[in-house]
Amino acid sequence: MNLNAPLTIALSKGRIFEQTLPLLAHAGIAPLDDPETSRKLILETSNPLVKFVIIRASDVPTYVQYGAADLGVAGKDVLMEHGGEGLYEPLDLGIARCRLMVAGLPETPEPISRRLRIATKYVHAAERYFAAKGQQVEIIKLYGSMELAPLVGLADLIVDLVESGNTLKANGLVPLEHIADISSRLVVNKASWKMKHEAVTALLERLREAVSQQAGG
Ligand code: PRP
Repeated sequence: MNLNAPLTIALSKGRIFEQTLPLLAHAGIAPLDDPETSRKLILETSNPLVKFVIIRASDVPTYVQYGAADLGVAGKDVLMEHGGEGLYEPLDLGIARCRLMVAGLPETPEPISRRLRIATKYVHAAERYFAAKGQQVEIIKLYGSMELAPLVGLADLIVDLVESGNTLKANGLVPLEHIADISSRLVVNKASWKMKHEAVTALLERLREAVSQQAGG
């Protein structure tokens, strides 16, 4: 793919990186280092005009919003928390699929006189979900291992990502309510969309082809 402008793509290590690589390969872009073994945070690629920055998943929208990266790949869960300011979200990559769910202990809790306590990393998504249901809840922000909260009496319910359901099951919890289907999205900085339009849309089209090939379409 011939580009006429340099592009920086923000990616996070792990599942998103692994599942985005085959899509980028369709556009002739492959990293020259493996982020799992290299400590480098900026990776050159087989296309001299394209580089990757390797950052935390939840930081991807921020880098792209401020133009520190032209494009990025972020989960819909992360984008729901960020709010999407300064970003376009032109393509669902269909990777890293899971569901954002309310989960809890299987037995119906005794009626409680206080507001339900919800432990989650996804504070905004949880707030919006319960507000839309007209239910007043207390949100407790956690940074991981949400499944523990109902087991030790920190919260009545959790809002978390569920993929196979194994983590819930292993901790004696059950999925209760579906909030949203999650997958990773391509996000583009709004200024890059205008200033590097040709390069961005060329890459977008190659990714779109790769996604539809992967989906068997
Ligand atoms: C996610 C999520 C659940 C688990 C769900 O955690 O928070 O804990 O995966 O997957 P499952 O339904 O297939 O068991 P992750 O391992 O990504 O770590 P995190 O706690 O940092 O989010």
